This record gives sequence, structure tokens and C-alpha cells, in this order.
Amino acid sequence: MDWFVRDFDHPAYFTIYADKAEEAAQEGPALAALLDLPAGCRVLDLPCGWGRLNPYLRDRGLQVIGGDLSPLNLARHHTSQPTPLVRLDLRALPFKDAAADGVFCAYTSWGYFATEAENLQQLTEFARVLRPGGALLLDLAGRSRLQASVVEVDGYWMDYQEGYQERVTWSPDGRRILTERLCQGERFCHDIWIPTDLEVRFALKTAGFQVAQACGGLDGRPWDEAADRWIYRAIKR
Ligand SMILES: C[S@@+](CC[C@H](N)C(=O)[O-])C[C@H]1O[C@@H](n2cnc3c(N)ncnc32)[C@H](O)[C@@H]1O
Repeated sequence: MDWFVRDFDHPAYFTIYADKAEEAAQEGPALAALLDLPAGCRVLDLPCGWGRLNPYLRDRGLQVIGGDLSPLNLARHHTSQPTPLVRLDLRALPFKDAAADGVFCAYTSWGYFATEAENLQQLTEFARVLRPGGALLLDLAGRSRLQASVVEVDGYWMDYQEGYQERVTWSPDGRRILTERLCQGERFCHDIWIPTDLEVRFALKTAGFQVAQACGGLDGRPWDEAADRWIYRAIKR
């Protein structure tokens, strides 16, 4: 089974990522603003997770549809938000061509697949469902900052007060970050490709996008190699 099928669809996920609910109040308004679409636009929140950023998209008057693979996340989302939700796989979206004005892809939700072709397929699908001129917001972890922060702890198990242990390592080829976790007596392992800026831009171009803006933070500051977040606003050509 692919790691992302199980790891996100397990009750332990909500323990490990409990702090992300609070962070949403800071991230949500900023990311929704960076998507920069007028009220009334149809936006796909992909993947939407448990919907923590959804209120901030709707606050801007956007018509949001959420999509995610995890039934557990979708069920939690459903209890708190009146948003249409679809269970889907990012590699094959169940939407018509040019159906959306925007795609909102927040919190390092790209690079989960084992092959370059599948990761590109995710962006190609985003491009397919966007109308020409539509906008994609792709919010990623800044590779250089992440690499620097991992150096100190690489290979060591750390205890977290939320009730889990974590060990982070880079794959031998330096392209992926492996995050092993022990929680509630079970073992999880996220295995995510962390691309360089050049790789992000090349993939976006190949998928049919033009980068309109690249930011190095939630406040919209210009992209910077050392930033902890790399946020791209790309337009479907
Ligand atoms: C880090 S969370 C981000 C969710 C949301 N964007 C947020 O900021 O809260 C990643 C999400 O991707 C979903 N996911 C992972 N692989 C997927 C796939 N192949 N297709 C659809 N969703 C997937 C997971 O279920 C999880 O909810």
C-alpha cells in the first residue's frame, strides 16, 4: 500500500498534526489572499484534508469544492463545513476540463508519489481542470531551509509532547525526506519528494502553467532560497 493511503487516514494523524488546526488561523487568510481570485470564483481545494483552511477561502466569497483521498479526513471535514466534498486521487481528478477558476494546493501536498511521472501528473490534472487564465496556488516547504533544519536531528529519534516519536532522514539520493513516526503503538512513514526551485518551475511549465508570482512567506515577500515556505502562484496557459 502507498504510504499516503494509510498514514493520513489513521486516527494517529490527528494527534501528530494537532497543532495545524491552530496554525490555520494564521495560514488560511494569507494563503487565500495569495490565491488572489475575486469573490464568486470556483476553487478546488486539493487536497482539502479535514478542511482547516476552508473557512478562509469561503470568507473571500469563493465557491469551494474540497477533494481528498482520506475518508477519515473527509468525514471530519463534513462535520464542520457546508462544503461539497469529493473523494478523489490527485492523479485522476473527477472534474471536467476547465471546470475551475482556481486550484488551492496548500501545505506541502505535492511530491507524495514515488515517480516523477506521477508527481507531474498531479500538476497536469490541476492544469486540465482549470480554465485558461485560472490560478493555481502551490504552497511548498522551502527545500534549503528544510535540509538545514534536518541536519541537527537527521537519523535521531525525537520525542514530541503530543505523544509521538519522530525520526527524519533524507533519502540517499538527497531528493526525498523520510519522516518515520511511532504513535499509538503503530509506525508511520511519510516519504515526500522535496524539489528544488528549478524542479518546481520546470514541472509547472511542463504541466502547462506560467509562474506569475513566487513568494518566500505568507506575507507575500519575494521568493528566497532560504525561506521556509516556497509559495507559487501559477496561471494556466
Ligand atoms: C498535509 S495534508 C494537507 C491538507 C490540507 N491542504 C491542509 O493544509 O490542511 C495532505 C492531504 O493529502 C491527502 N492525500 C494524500 N495523498 C493523496 C492522493 N493521492 N490523492 C488525494 N489526496 C491525497 C491526505 O489524505 C491529506 O489529507
